[in-house]
Amino acid sequence: MSEFEDLARKALPPAHFGYIATGVDDDLTLQANQEAYKRIPLRPRRLIDPGDTNMRTTLFGTTWETPLFICPCGSQRGFHAEGELATARAARARRHLMMLSTVTTNAVEDVNREYGQPVWYQLYSAPRWEVTAGLVKRAEAAGCPVLVWTLDVMNGRNTETQKRMARLDSRQCSNCHSGDRLSHYPMYRGLPTAPGDGSSNTPGTWEMVDRLKKLTSMKLVLKGIVTREDAEIAIQHGVDGIAVSNHGGRAEETGRATIESLPEVAEAVRGRVPLMVDGGIRRGTDIFKALAMGASGVGIGRPYLWGLAAFGQPGVERVLEILRAELLLTMRQCGTRSIAEITRSYLV
Ligand SMILES: Cc1cc2nc3c(=O)[nH]c(=O)nc-3n(C[C@H](O)[C@H](O)[C@H](O)COP(=O)(O)O)c2cc1C
Repeated sequence: MSEFEDLARKALPPAHFGYIATGVDDDLTLQANQEAYKRIPLRPRRLIDPGDTNMRTTLFGTTWETPLFICPCGSQRGFHAEGELATARAARARRHLMMLSTVTTNAVEDVNREYGQPVWYQLYSAPRWEVTAGLVKRAEAAGCPVLVWTLDVMNGRNTETQKRMARLDSRQCSNCHSGDRLSHYPMYRGLPTAPGDGSSNTPGTWEMVDRLKKLTSMKLVLKGIVTREDAEIAIQHGVDGIAVSNHGGRAEETGRATIESLPEVAEAVRGRVPLMVDGGIRRGTDIFKALAMGASGVGIGRPYLWGLAAFGQPGVERVLEILRAELLLTMRQCGTRSIAEITRSYLV
């Protein structure tokens, strides 16, 4: 993956690469996400016939060929002219679940067309309920089966790496980034946003989970849960799924990797709803470890954005292909023939 990262760095203006690269504060949580996987050794079993090892995964009644999914990442036309459309074509070609950001630079209807089916739609809550509801209703009308509400960046963040890299950029940001911030994001068109609504992710409360559940028939997944306490409350509020995530180390600087949060959340969830995880996945072995700790879906952000920035659709496809081949190899080496067979017993 690091080769894709280098190519993306070369392909992009420093400000845009900095937006992908940044964590918060000292980027410790960003680094922790990746480092923690390296400290988890595997316990492979021997002399097991690999048979027709398959990676099939079912989430909310839909079966995917692998548990590897595309995380929602905003502003993709800042990384490649086709942006989310190229990502959708790649996800379609390689048959992966795709989540689409609220701050997508291509409209959900267009992305769905390229994807060949509706994506899962990621929600940022807006300062006004009418705007939030408008986003949800539009995604629902576009056929999106699942709403993924992101909870972890509601109170601002300190993205120093991004700011430092932006300073290296000699281009005038105002040439492209003129006007109101939200005007760059087609999902807000036609909604009653006000100048100054600027922030696209406003603080919410558990009461809003109930409100969202009432508003839509889409399944509701909460993205950004990292503790057993919140997992339990989420289930009490009737959520349909939980995504353990710290926004790729871009939310608060906890210093704690998502793979370290996953066990306590999995313990609280006890298989009652699907559990997903993302953050720091760079190898097939990482996916295997996340599955062994109780995830049923495992997401990537930066790796596919690097592929997108470097090569467009083929780059995203290649990243997916490499990770999936590595997962298959790990499964065979460990003696697990299906995702269900990957349990804690394969970890030290
Ligand atoms: C450039 C960039 C933009 C992102 N935009 C969003 C977003 O709009 N909504 C969201 O829920 N998460 C967003 N994320 C977080 C990802 O969905 C995911 O949680 C994270 O990237 C996973 O970590 P990884 O990059 O180490 O794979 C973004 C991440 C990056 C790197």
